This record gives sequence, structure tokens and C-alpha cells, in this order.
Amino acid sequence: MTERTHGLEHGLTNYGDRDFSLYLRRSFAQSMGYSRAMLSKPVVGIAYTPSGFNNCHRHFPELLDAVKRGVLAAGALPVAFPTISLGEVFLSPTSLKYRNLMAIDTEEMIRAQPMDAVVLMGGCDKTVPAQLMGAVSAGRPAVMLVAGPMMTGRHRGERLGACTDCRRFWARYRAGDVTEEEISQVEGQLAVTAGTCAVMGTASTMACIAEALGLVLPGTAAIPAVHADRLRAAEATGAAAARLIGSKRTPDQIVNAKSVENALRALLALGGSTNAVIHLAAIAGRVGVRVPLEQLNKLSDTTPVLVNLKPVGNGYMEDFFASGGMGALLRELKPLLHLDCMTVTGETLGERLASDVACYVDRSIVAGRDQPFEPQGGLVALFGNLAPKGAILKRSAADAKLFEHTGRAVVFSSLADLAARIDDPALDVTPQDVLVLQNAGPHASECMPEAGYLPIPKKLAQRGVKDMIRVSDARMSGTAFGTIVLHVTPDSASGGPLGLVGADDGCDFAFLRPAVGAG
Ligand code: FES
Repeated sequence: MTERTHGLEHGLTNYGDRDFSLYLRRSFAQSMGYSRAMLSKPVVGIAYTPSGFNNCHRHFPELLDAVKRGVLAAGALPVAFPTISLGEVFLSPTSLKYRNLMAIDTEEMIRAQPMDAVVLMGGCDKTVPAQLMGAVSAGRPAVMLVAGPMMTGRHRGERLGACTDCRRFWARYRAGDVTEEEISQVEGQLAVTAGTCAVMGTASTMACIAEALGLVLPGTAAIPAVHADRLRAAEATGAAAARLIGSKRTPDQIVNAKSVENALRALLALGGSTNAVIHLAAIAGRVGVRVPLEQLNKLSDTTPVLVNLKPVGNGYMEDFFASGGMGALLRELKPLLHLDCMTVTGETLGERLASDVACYVDRSIVAGRDQPFEPQGGLVALFGNLAPKGAILKRSAADAKLFEHTGRAVVFSSLADLAARIDDPALDVTPQDVLVLQNAGPHASECMPEAGYLPIPKKLAQRGVKDMIRVSDARMSGTAFGTIVLHVTPDSASGGPLGLVGADDGCDFAFLRPAVGAG
């Protein structure tokens, strides 16, 4: 027998006798009821991540059926395989700790098992970056299918969506504006369908970035999880994966300096999550492309915010979908993008945008470039005495009145210290103070949790204070908002100057400013 590199004959288990390995593999595969004809087809693996601990992937069984339908119709054999799944709110101390583990799992299972192409099924927060990191390193043809966002719930005539409204109502509850009874009603209306958080949080941002990179099918990032179009997208994704077999359009070819820059432009125009900076850097890093913060600032200066979704604006992902989704955004950004970037379909980004059917765009959700919601990008990197290697501010979700500020530092030395004292009536704090959280960065034992959204101290919340400057080496959820400086680098646990800020000693410090002329 001669060496073949497709289907079940790919990557044989090594017993020192190749023909025996193939005979044994076929024999065991037939125990699953496949015919010889099916087993001779090329194989599309499906990295499948449902879990009882992942509500966002609840609809994956139905999506899997649709993916398989697409693969079969295109002449290949679909074979699903599990990897670990990361359900954001079910993981301790934080899901980020397990992102790289999922990336390793994905990469190794793609590499080790006999598949000619792979569909990556992910959605919840860290799953999309983890799967893309793994797929880029595995170097096999791959196409991503995202879960799609949740639909909104209703509370007393108001739409609610996870999880910006979770935080908004919780802040009101802490302030005493919302009763125990109402907060428990709200709890039941925040996450009402399968799918990922309904706002432009990290999951939605990463889905959109995957489309900007060219790794999901055009027009599919924003389709709601429960919409019939999501099933059609799944079917089309399965067929696209089958068509990729034998192609050199692998993720490591599609992700390059130019497509990463396109993704950064999209992130900034979306007013997307701060977490996307570290995830995109990790994906790009798999092909040796760096994402310096100075580059982020340069692009941010020339990329307007064009999307009006929570937490930066008013809408939800279902509105973005109805307003043309990523196609509408990318068409507005066209003059700023590298149009020669290849996408997973075989079209360049420019060809994709030229062939897009121009549909209705609700300009209250996706603005034209001549009338942006904000003239500059949603994120900015800051540098200064507390963050010599940088920090991130989501300026589009911040209060511009706090951009120039001097105040006392009220310091919490750890998450435990924060929990113990933030609501202490004796805490010496005023609305003009700056809340500082130390030891919550990547080298802390809590592994950089989303604790950067420090709660407003209860006694100030009850006086109506809604925002204060907060500084930490932690992250925050993509669904959060406020004047919050995050990712301070180096972090306190590794000896960064943030750890030297005095505890409650009333010291003043200069607020961080963007580097002048950086990059
Ligand atoms: Fe899964 Fe928000 S909890 S995306």
C-alpha cells in the first residue's frame, strides 16, 4: 500500500506495520456502524464543545446536526470529537486560566486524529480564542462556527441582555434603588436563550474578530444562536470545511500581520472588549506576529467607533445582526482595511466586500464613517509611572470628565482585601478618590480575573455615585463599563510599581496618560 494522506488513512497509529494500523483502524471504525464507502471518504473533524457547565453552548447538538449535513452534502465524512469547554461563569478562579489548556487540547486533537479539515464550534468567551490559537498552530484547514449571541429578555417593558444589564441592575441593587424581589425577577430575564452574552462583550467581540480575520464564513458572526440562519450558517460551514480539504488556506496562512491589523481595526470600531487585545495577541503570536500597544494606539487614533451596542452604546447583538452585522461594519471600514487578505472561503476580503449584497443598515446601530459615534477607537493603551509597559482603557465605555484627574489612592492589596473592605462603612473614601486593586494580574494566584470592574463602595453608591476611576492589573468583563484602567503592566505580583502604591495613606499619584508620539 502506498502512503495516503486523507481520511482515516491520515496519521496512522504507529505499530511498526502501516498496513496493520490501517486494517485495525478500519475495523474499529466499522464497529461504529460506518460502511466501507463512508470510511473511504475524506474526513472533516468537528471540534465539539457542549457541556453541562456551558449554557452558551446549549444549542450545540442541533448545530452539530446542521454542520454534519453540510459536510455530508459536500462529499466528506463528518466526525465530531470533544475538547474541553469553558463556560465563563462556572470556572474558578477564572476562565482565562484554562484558555491555553483548551488551545493545547484543540491543537493536539486536530493534529493527532485523522481529519483533513476541521470545523471549530465555540462561542463562550475564551473558547473562540482558544480554538483559533490551537487551529493556527495545528496548521490544518479549519473554519470556525461561532455559537451566536443570546436574544434579550424583558423586564417591566425594558429589554435586558447579559451581561451589561446584570451589572447595571446589580449596581442599582447595591445602591438600594432595586429591591430584593426585583433583583430576583431580573435574574431570570438576563440570559433567556442559548448563545453567548447578548452585548458586545468578549464573546461577541471575538466572534466579530474571527470574521474580520477571515476565519468564519462571511456574515455569520452576529447571527443569533436561536435564529434559523444560525443553522443555515452551520450547514454552510460544514460544506466550506469539506471544500477546504487539500487546500493550503490554513489558519496559519490566513492569520498574518495584515489580517491582524484588520482585526484590530474591527475591534476599535466595534468598541469591543479589552480582553480581545490579549486574545488577539495570543492568536497572532502563534504565527510570530506581535501586537504592540503602540500599534493599537496608532490605529485607535484613526479608527472611529461605528457600532452602538452595550456596554458602549444602547443596542444588543440582535440589533447588530438586523443592521447588517460585520458586513455593514467592514464596508464602512473598507478604506482602512487590507483588502488583499485571504479568507477561509478562498475570496480575498476585498472580493468578499465587493460581492456582499448591500442590505438595509440601521444607522442608529452601525454608523457611516462620516458620522461616527466617536471619532477615535474604543480602546487606548496608556503608559506612565504606574504602568511603564502599558495598560488598557476602554475609553468608549468611560466618563470623559474623568480623563484628567488627580486624586487620593484608596488601595486594596488583593481580591480578599477588596471583598473585606469595599462595603465597610468605615472605609475612608470619597467620589474623587481613585480605587486601586493590586495583585490581581497574570502572576497573581487568582490568574488575572475579571475583577478590574471594582464595585463602587456601597456608601458612595447609595449617594448616587455611578463611576470612579479604578486602576488595577486585573481584566474586566467585555460587558462592563466605567472609567477603568486595566492590565497594568508589569503587574504587582511580578514587582510592578502598582504594587508600591501605599495602602490608604492618602498619597497622590499622577494619572496615566497615553504616550505622546508613541510608535
Ligand atoms: Fe458565555 Fe458570556 S457567559 S459568553
